[in-house]
Amino acid sequence: MGTESEKLAIDGGKPVIASPLPTIKDASGRLIGEEEMAQVKEVIESGCLAYIYGSKVTDFEKRFSELYQTDHSIAVSSGTAALHTAMIYLDPEPGDEVLVSPITDMGSVIPILYQQAIPVFVDVDPFNQNMDPAKIEEHISPRTRAIMVTHIYGSPADMNPIMEIAQRHNLFVIEDCAQAHMTEYKGRLVGTIGNIGCFSFQQSKHITTGDGGMVIASEDQRFGRRLRECFDKGWPRHKPGRDHYFLAPNYHMTELQAAVGIAQIQKYSISIAARRKAAAELDELLREVEAVEPVGTLENCQQTYFYYAFRLKPERLTVNTETVVEALKAEGLVCEHGYPGPIPLYLYAMIRDQKTFGKSGWPFHAPTARKRWEYREGLCPVAEKCCRETIILPWNERLQNEHVQLIAAALKKVLNVYKT
Ligand SMILES: Cc1ncc(COP(=O)(O)O)c(C=O)c1O
Repeated sequence: MGTESEKLAIDGGKPVIASPLPTIKDASGRLIGEEEMAQVKEVIESGCLAYIYGSKVTDFEKRFSELYQTDHSIAVSSGTAALHTAMIYLDPEPGDEVLVSPITDMGSVIPILYQQAIPVFVDVDPFNQNMDPAKIEEHISPRTRAIMVTHIYGSPADMNPIMEIAQRHNLFVIEDCAQAHMTEYKGRLVGTIGNIGCFSFQQSKHITTGDGGMVIASEDQRFGRRLRECFDKGWPRHKPGRDHYFLAPNYHMTELQAAVGIAQIQKYSISIAARRKAAAELDELLREVEAVEPVGTLENCQQTYFYYAFRLKPERLTVNTETVVEALKAEGLVCEHGYPGPIPLYLYAMIRDQKTFGKSGWPFHAPTARKRWEYREGLCPVAEKCCRETIILPWNERLQNEHVQLIAAALKKVLNVYKT
């Protein structure tokens, strides 16, 4: 097992990381301070916490629109709410189909199911673990309405071929940018390429309002109006009086969240530059480690590192990913096996066992569906392999070179002991 200094912490050796590294869970890893406090104080002093009477949500939306050069930004209560708002706007017939990646958060699929549509999983490209454009067309049916594209880990999906396919088949494109704030695809910000872009401001994201989300879209005024009704009880608030045009939930963001968002949005560039710098340093330190293959970024694109994600090459190791993860955790490194875990999304009970509306199996078994949908192992073999072999490191804007050195040291120590 090598010298005493090489003895793994999991085998009783000394951990490489003795005290916790900066984390997104608290101020150690976040840029939250005076500016947020001043904004929130204003809201408290105003006595108005609700967006319909206040100005902070509108101000936050305006700043987001300016940043993304988009006509409409609509602040909502979470990333899931943002995607649900987009799905309500799409207004599928029950049993219609939406193509989605199996490597994403359940928050991408829940809105599809709430709108009684079927999630159809398209396998991923192992290079960046995003939906593989070459695998899309085989899943398109007369019932397909939309492609929901997640840009996973902050690395952009290949939007040009995806948009080309969408246009050819007259499909709507929803971009899930929850993990890809300010990510660039060939000179364009992701979220502005498809019909609607959706963001999450949950605690772990590039900027945060605790929970929260944003929907962006650029089209005519009617688009903006109807989108606003989709998260607001179907209520056309631009008109006097009360009306409810169609079924829609209440996903308002509060003035308190928006106040934090206004301060946070001004820190985007610092946050993203810091994440990129730390990631570039780790790339460099791991360059010679043969068992590691960082998740890729397409040419002429800029990734923004929600996570630092890498695949382990099984042929270079004597143990499986799970054992490596356990050993890394013992060394003091916060990491997880795979995303959204060691299995892709469709193998979680909600989808695999179709735990949706009572015992109905809806929408998977609804009479309106094109067939009886089943989700089993083997559906997306590349995604399953990626989940098995990937390790994710939560990333943040306060990681300094000394922290990156420790992360690399922990990885090198463990992988050196387990190498073939
Ligand atoms: C890719 C992706 N989509 C959707 C969501 C859902 O966002 P929220 O947790 O804000 O509802 C997340 C959250 O982690 C995510 O990572």
